Order: sequence, then structure tokens, then C-alpha cells
Amino acid sequence: MIIDTKDVKNEELYKLLIGSVLPRPIAWVGTLDKKGIPNLAPFSFFNIASVNPPVVSISILNKLDGVKKDTLINIQNTEVFSISIVSYDLVEKMAITGKDYELDVDEFKVAGVSCLPCKKIASVYVGESKVTFECRLHSIVDFGDVEKAGNLVLANVVAIHVHDNIIEWPNIDMLKLDAVARASGPYYSTIRDKFLINN
Ligand SMILES: Cc1cc2nc3c(=O)[nH]c(=O)nc-3n(C[C@H](O)[C@H](O)[C@H](O)COP(=O)(O)O)c2cc1C
Repeated sequence: MIIDTKDVKNEELYKLLIGSVLPRPIAWVGTLDKKGIPNLAPFSFFNIASVNPPVVSISILNKLDGVKKDTLINIQNTEVFSISIVSYDLVEKMAITGKDYELDVDEFKVAGVSCLPCKKIASVYVGESKVTFECRLHSIVDFGDVEKAGNLVLANVVAIHVHDNIIEWPNIDMLKLDAVARASGPYYSTIRDKFLINN
């Protein structure tokens, strides 16, 4: 089967793309709104864009009628945010923060995770997470005003928090981090099933 993407409905395109690009790491993004109210939400369109300088990317899709998500609004306003990595023990709490809440709802409180101040930027992060990046906005590539159009956020990583017991400098132990990833539909996966290729 060859699919011409211009003949495919929005929801079908979404399923084709997320069913093909997987597993996707999850960025648990902490931001502050203009009044200083914390916001927390997960984004699995997340990756490394550059190492030197360190830059990461997340893509935030528009809601129905092209309405922007709270995380994007906050990043546009404050130009800083945190990305926490989601370990298996935090996955249920992360999923709670993926629901649509009003801008003035503090999802840290709703999910029952600690909201700690970042060290280098004026933002907040999930205290229980074993790895957190403190990020400063580099640029946003806007793919349009319609539903599910992406807003690709590129950000410089200015600091990395790592729990001491999961790192043997500079290697982070992937089994101790025990990160989860988003698969297709409502499914998640771990990365416990590792194997080695000796080149
Ligand atoms: C595991 C997971 C991954 C998600 N990944 C994305 C994503 O990459 N891009 C996106 O726009 N929404 C994604 N979502 C949906 C957002 O988290 C959801 O729309 C959330 O309500 C946005 O919150 P906000 O309005 O506070 O920014 C994901 C949800 C879950 C549970």
C-alpha cells in the first residue's frame, strides 16, 4: 500500500504517523504562566536536535480550531521551561497531566508530584524525576493555524539535573532511569528489553 498523504484525513494521518514513529520518548514539560501558576504536561514528539550546543525539540500540536495548548502559550510568554524524563514509577502520574485542564490549573498538584524551582531559569520541574533539563527557548517553527498543526519548539539545554545514584560519570544507567516511551494508540513501553550489537 502506498498512501498519498493529501488524501488522508487528519485523524488518520495522526494514527499513521504515531503508529510508525515509535517508541517515542516523553518530555514532561514544566512551565509557568504569566501569573506564576505552574503547568505540567507530557509531549512525546520529543528528541535531541543538537549536542554542541545542546538543543532539544518538542512539538506541540494545535487543539480543535487551531487553539494553542497552555504549554506553548507559557513557553512563548516566558521563553523558559523544564523537561523531566518519565520513569516507570511516575507513568500513572504523567498520564494524569496529559488531560486538558484550564490554564489556571496546577497539574503538579492534580498529579501529586513536587513542583520545585529550577536553578538556572525562572521555571519549575518535577522533583521526583531522575533526570531534568532546564531549557531556554531557541525558536519555534509554526506549521499552521489548523487543528493538529505542529509548533516545533527548539530549546537550548542550560542545565541537567541527574540523580546521583543513576549516573557513573558520564554514563546514565538506562535500567536505573527506567524511562517509559509512548507507543501507538494508548500504549506505552519500557526500554528494559535491551540487547547489544558489538561493532
Ligand atoms: C504520553 C503523552 C504524550 C503526548 N504527546 C504530545 C505531543 O507530542 N504533542 C502534543 O501536542 N500533545 C501531546 N500529548 C497531549 C498533551 O499532553 C495534552 O494535550 C495536554 O493537555 C497539553 O496540556 P497543556 O494544555 O497544559 O499544554 C501527549 C499526551 C500524553 C499522555
